[in-house]
Amino acid sequence: MHEPDPATLTISERADALEQRMSDELDALVVKSNLYTSGESDPRAYRTPKLGDDGRHWLMGHDPRLPRMPDRPTLLDFFRYRFGTAAHVLQSATHALAAGQSERIVLACLLHDISVIGFIRADHGYWAAQLVEPYVDEEVSWAIRYHQALRFYPDEAAGYRYPEAYVRNFGDAYEPEPYVAAAYAYARNHRWYLTSRAITVHDVYSFDPNAVVQLETFADIVARNFRQPDEGLGFDASPAAHMWRTINQPTRFL
Ligand SMILES: [Fe+2]
Ligand SMILES: [Fe+2]
Repeated sequence: MHEPDPATLTISERADALEQRMSDELDALVVKSNLYTSGESDPRAYRTPKLGDDGRHWLMGHDPRLPRMPDRPTLLDFFRYRFGTAAHVLQSATHALAAGQSERIVLACLLHDISVIGFIRADHGYWAAQLVEPYVDEEVSWAIRYHQALRFYPDEAAGYRYPEAYVRNFGDAYEPEPYVAAAYAYARNHRWYLTSRAITVHDVYSFDPNAVVQLETFADIVARNFRQPDEGLGFDASPAAHMWRTINQPTRFL
Protein backbone atom coordinates (compact mmCIF):
# COMPACT_ATOMS: atom_id res chain seq x y z
CA MET A 1 0.00 0.00 0.00
CA HIS A 2 1.16 3.52 -0.78
CA GLU A 3 2.67 5.28 2.30
CA PRO A 4 1.33 8.82 2.81
CA ASP A 5 3.88 11.60 2.42
CA PRO A 6 4.59 12.83 6.00
CA ALA A 7 4.69 16.42 4.72
CA THR A 8 1.01 16.25 3.84
CA LEU A 9 -0.11 14.91 7.25
CA THR A 10 -1.65 17.08 9.94
CA ILE A 11 0.02 17.19 13.35
CA SER A 12 -2.50 14.79 14.82
CA GLU A 13 -2.13 12.39 11.90
CA ARG A 14 1.62 12.48 12.42
CA ALA A 15 1.15 11.81 16.15
CA ASP A 16 -1.12 8.88 15.29
CA ALA A 17 1.46 7.51 12.86
CA LEU A 18 4.20 7.80 15.50
CA GLU A 19 2.03 6.10 18.07
CA GLN A 20 1.21 3.37 15.58
CA ARG A 21 4.92 2.84 14.92
CA MET A 22 5.67 2.74 18.65
CA SER A 23 2.93 0.26 19.33
CA ASP A 24 3.99 -1.85 16.32
CA GLU A 25 7.33 -2.31 18.07
CA LEU A 26 5.76 -3.66 21.26
CA ASP A 27 5.37 -7.34 21.98
CA ALA A 28 1.71 -6.86 22.76
CA LEU A 29 -1.05 -4.77 21.22
CA VAL A 30 -2.20 -1.72 23.08
CA VAL A 31 -5.67 -0.26 22.73
CA LYS A 32 -6.78 3.00 24.25
CA SER A 33 -9.93 3.03 26.33
CA ASN A 34 -12.87 4.85 24.82
CA LEU A 35 -12.48 7.57 27.42
CA TYR A 36 -9.01 8.47 26.11
CA THR A 37 -10.35 9.50 22.74
CA SER A 38 -13.96 10.45 23.46
CA GLY A 39 -14.42 13.97 22.17
CA GLU A 40 -11.56 13.78 19.73
CA SER A 41 -13.64 11.14 18.09
CA ASP A 42 -17.30 10.26 18.45
CA PRO A 43 -17.47 7.71 21.29
CA ARG A 44 -20.26 5.89 19.48
CA ALA A 45 -17.80 5.11 16.72
CA TYR A 46 -15.49 3.29 19.15
CA ARG A 47 -14.70 -0.23 18.01
CA THR A 48 -12.28 -2.67 19.56
CA PRO A 49 -9.63 -3.28 16.89
CA LYS A 50 -9.13 -6.83 15.70
CA LEU A 51 -6.02 -8.84 16.53
CA GLY A 52 -3.62 -9.10 13.63
CA ASP A 53 -2.12 -12.39 12.49
CA ASP A 54 1.40 -11.64 13.78
CA GLY A 55 0.86 -13.71 16.92
CA ARG A 56 0.72 -10.81 19.33
CA HIS A 57 -1.92 -10.62 22.04
CA TRP A 58 -3.58 -7.71 23.75
CA LEU A 59 -1.49 -6.09 26.44
CA MET A 60 -2.60 -7.48 29.79
CA GLY A 61 -0.11 -5.95 32.20
CA HIS A 62 2.68 -3.46 32.42
CA ASP A 63 2.97 -1.05 29.50
CA PRO A 64 6.66 -1.13 28.48
CA ARG A 65 6.47 2.51 27.40
CA LEU A 66 5.99 3.52 31.04
CA PRO A 67 8.49 3.40 33.90
CA ARG A 68 8.03 0.19 35.84
CA MET A 69 6.53 0.57 39.27
CA PRO A 70 7.65 -1.42 42.30
CA ASP A 71 5.65 -4.59 42.96
CA ARG A 72 4.20 -3.01 46.09
CA PRO A 73 3.84 0.62 45.10
CA THR A 74 3.39 3.33 47.68
CA LEU A 75 1.65 6.66 47.35
CA LEU A 76 5.03 8.32 46.82
CA ASP A 77 5.82 5.84 44.04
CA PHE A 78 2.71 7.02 42.22
CA PHE A 79 3.98 10.59 42.56
CA ARG A 80 7.37 9.49 41.20
CA TYR A 81 6.33 7.18 38.37
CA ARG A 82 2.82 8.00 37.26
CA PHE A 83 1.70 11.49 38.20
CA GLY A 84 2.40 14.51 36.03
CA THR A 85 4.08 17.54 37.50
CA ALA A 86 3.32 17.82 41.18
CA ALA A 87 4.57 21.40 41.56
CA HIS A 88 1.10 22.77 42.24
CA VAL A 89 0.17 20.31 45.01
CA LEU A 90 3.66 20.51 46.53
CA GLN A 91 3.41 24.29 46.58
CA SER A 92 -0.04 24.15 48.15
CA ALA A 93 1.16 21.75 50.85
CA THR A 94 4.28 23.85 51.44
CA HIS A 95 2.08 26.94 51.82
CA ALA A 96 -0.11 25.14 54.34
CA LEU A 97 2.92 23.89 56.25
CA ALA A 98 4.41 27.41 56.42
CA ALA A 99 1.07 28.69 57.74
CA GLY A 100 1.31 26.22 60.63
CA GLN A 101 -1.62 24.08 59.54
CA SER A 102 -2.22 20.63 61.00
CA GLU A 103 -0.75 17.54 59.34
CA ARG A 104 -4.23 16.58 58.29
CA ILE A 105 -4.67 19.80 56.33
CA VAL A 106 -1.15 19.63 54.87
CA LEU A 107 -1.92 16.11 53.66
CA ALA A 108 -5.25 17.25 52.19
CA CYS A 109 -3.41 20.03 50.32
CA LEU A 110 -0.82 17.57 49.05
CA LEU A 111 -3.50 15.24 47.70
CA HIS A 112 -6.26 17.62 46.66
CA ASP A 113 -5.50 17.60 42.91
CA ILE A 114 -3.99 14.14 42.43
CA SER A 115 -6.82 13.27 40.09
CA VAL A 116 -5.87 16.18 37.83
CA ILE A 117 -2.22 15.15 37.70
CA GLY A 118 -2.71 11.40 37.65
CA PHE A 119 -6.15 10.28 36.60
CA ILE A 120 -9.10 12.33 35.34
CA ARG A 121 -9.65 16.09 35.34
CA ALA A 122 -13.43 16.33 35.23
CA ASP A 123 -14.90 16.22 38.76
CA HIS A 124 -11.38 15.89 40.10
CA GLY A 125 -12.36 16.56 43.72
CA TYR A 126 -14.67 13.55 43.75
CA TRP A 127 -12.18 11.26 42.04
CA ALA A 128 -9.31 12.30 44.30
CA ALA A 129 -11.46 11.81 47.40
CA GLN A 130 -12.39 8.31 46.25
CA LEU A 131 -8.80 7.41 45.50
CA VAL A 132 -7.62 8.23 49.03
CA GLU A 133 -10.74 7.52 51.07
CA PRO A 134 -9.71 4.05 52.33
CA TYR A 135 -6.32 5.32 53.49
CA VAL A 136 -6.89 8.67 55.21
CA ASP A 137 -9.05 10.14 57.95
CA GLU A 138 -12.58 10.72 56.75
CA GLU A 139 -12.14 14.44 57.31
CA VAL A 140 -9.27 14.55 54.81
CA SER A 141 -11.15 12.85 51.98
CA TRP A 142 -14.27 14.87 52.76
CA ALA A 143 -12.26 18.09 52.48
CA ILE A 144 -10.73 16.98 49.17
CA ARG A 145 -14.14 16.09 47.74
CA TYR A 146 -15.68 19.47 48.52
CA HIS A 147 -12.76 21.73 47.64
CA GLN A 148 -13.91 21.38 44.05
CA ALA A 149 -17.15 23.22 44.81
CA LEU A 150 -15.73 25.63 47.40
CA ARG A 151 -13.24 26.99 44.85
CA PHE A 152 -16.12 28.74 43.11
CA TYR A 153 -17.47 30.48 46.22
CA PRO A 154 -15.53 33.21 48.03
CA ASP A 155 -15.36 33.36 51.80
CA GLU A 156 -13.32 36.42 52.61
CA ALA A 157 -13.72 35.94 56.36
CA ALA A 158 -11.88 32.64 55.91
CA GLY A 159 -9.27 34.28 53.67
CA TYR A 160 -10.53 33.10 50.31
CA ARG A 161 -11.42 35.36 47.39
CA TYR A 162 -12.78 34.24 44.05
CA PRO A 163 -9.58 33.66 42.01
CA GLU A 164 -8.92 36.14 39.22
CA ALA A 165 -7.49 33.21 37.30
CA TYR A 166 -10.99 31.70 37.21
CA VAL A 167 -12.37 34.79 35.46
CA ARG A 168 -9.62 34.35 32.88
CA ASN A 169 -9.99 30.58 32.70
CA PHE A 170 -13.75 30.24 32.63
CA GLY A 171 -15.04 33.70 31.65
CA ASP A 172 -16.86 36.19 33.87
CA ALA A 173 -20.26 34.75 32.97
CA TYR A 174 -19.37 31.27 34.22
CA GLU A 175 -21.89 29.90 36.72
CA PRO A 176 -21.18 26.62 38.51
CA GLU A 177 -23.55 23.81 37.59
CA PRO A 178 -26.45 23.05 39.95
CA TYR A 179 -24.71 19.99 41.41
CA VAL A 180 -21.72 22.16 42.34
CA ALA A 181 -23.99 24.78 43.90
CA ALA A 182 -25.76 22.04 45.86
CA ALA A 183 -22.44 20.57 47.03
CA TYR A 184 -21.36 24.03 48.20
CA ALA A 185 -24.63 24.60 50.10
CA TYR A 186 -24.18 21.26 51.83
CA ALA A 187 -20.49 21.75 52.62
CA ARG A 188 -20.97 25.32 53.85
CA ASN A 189 -22.89 24.08 56.87
CA HIS A 190 -20.85 20.99 57.57
CA ARG A 191 -18.66 20.62 60.63
CA TRP A 192 -15.61 20.04 58.41
CA TYR A 193 -16.26 23.09 56.22
CA LEU A 194 -13.14 24.91 57.41
CA THR A 195 -10.92 21.93 56.62
CA SER A 196 -12.09 21.92 53.03
CA ARG A 197 -11.96 25.69 52.93
CA ALA A 198 -8.32 25.52 54.05
CA ILE A 199 -7.50 23.58 50.85
CA THR A 200 -8.86 26.47 48.81
CA VAL A 201 -7.00 29.04 50.92
CA HIS A 202 -3.70 27.25 50.29
CA ASP A 203 -4.60 26.34 46.70
CA VAL A 204 -2.11 28.78 45.28
CA TYR A 205 -1.34 29.53 41.68
CA SER A 206 0.80 32.58 42.31
CA PHE A 207 3.40 30.90 44.49
CA ASP A 208 7.02 31.77 43.76
CA PRO A 209 7.92 29.67 40.69
CA ASN A 210 11.52 29.48 41.93
CA ALA A 211 10.57 28.07 45.32
CA VAL A 212 12.17 24.70 45.88
CA VAL A 213 9.49 22.16 46.72
CA GLN A 214 10.17 18.50 47.22
CA LEU A 215 8.09 15.44 47.71
CA GLU A 216 10.52 14.23 50.40
CA THR A 217 9.51 17.18 52.60
CA PHE A 218 6.17 15.44 53.10
CA ALA A 219 7.36 11.85 53.46
CA ASP A 220 6.94 11.82 57.24
CA ILE A 221 3.51 13.46 57.16
CA VAL A 222 2.43 10.90 54.55
CA ALA A 223 3.88 8.06 56.65
CA ARG A 224 1.95 9.20 59.72
CA ASN A 225 -1.33 10.04 58.01
CA PHE A 226 -1.71 7.80 54.97
CA ARG A 227 -2.35 4.11 55.72
CA GLN A 228 -0.14 2.59 53.09
CA PRO A 229 -1.30 -1.01 52.47
CA ASP A 230 1.40 -3.67 52.86
CA GLU A 231 0.40 -5.31 49.56
CA GLY A 232 0.96 -2.05 47.69
CA LEU A 233 -1.59 0.50 46.52
CA GLY A 234 -3.80 -1.27 44.03
CA PHE A 235 -3.06 -4.77 45.29
CA ASP A 236 -4.95 -4.40 48.55
CA ALA A 237 -8.63 -5.17 48.54
CA SER A 238 -9.84 -1.64 49.30
CA PRO A 239 -12.80 -0.13 47.43
CA ALA A 240 -10.33 2.13 45.59
CA ALA A 241 -7.69 -0.50 44.75
CA HIS A 242 -8.89 -0.89 41.16
CA MET A 243 -8.45 2.83 40.56
CA TRP A 244 -4.80 2.66 41.63
CA ARG A 245 -4.26 -0.44 39.48
CA THR A 246 -5.67 1.44 36.49
CA ILE A 247 -3.26 4.34 37.06
CA ASN A 248 -0.44 1.83 37.39
CA GLN A 249 -1.45 -0.06 34.21
CA PRO A 250 -3.58 2.37 32.22
CA THR A 251 -3.48 0.49 28.94
CA ARG A 252 -4.42 -3.00 30.09
CA PHE A 253 -6.88 -4.46 27.62
CA LEU A 254 -9.25 -5.53 30.42
FE1 LIG B 1 -8.64 21.41 42.69
FE1 LIG C 1 -5.45 23.02 43.30
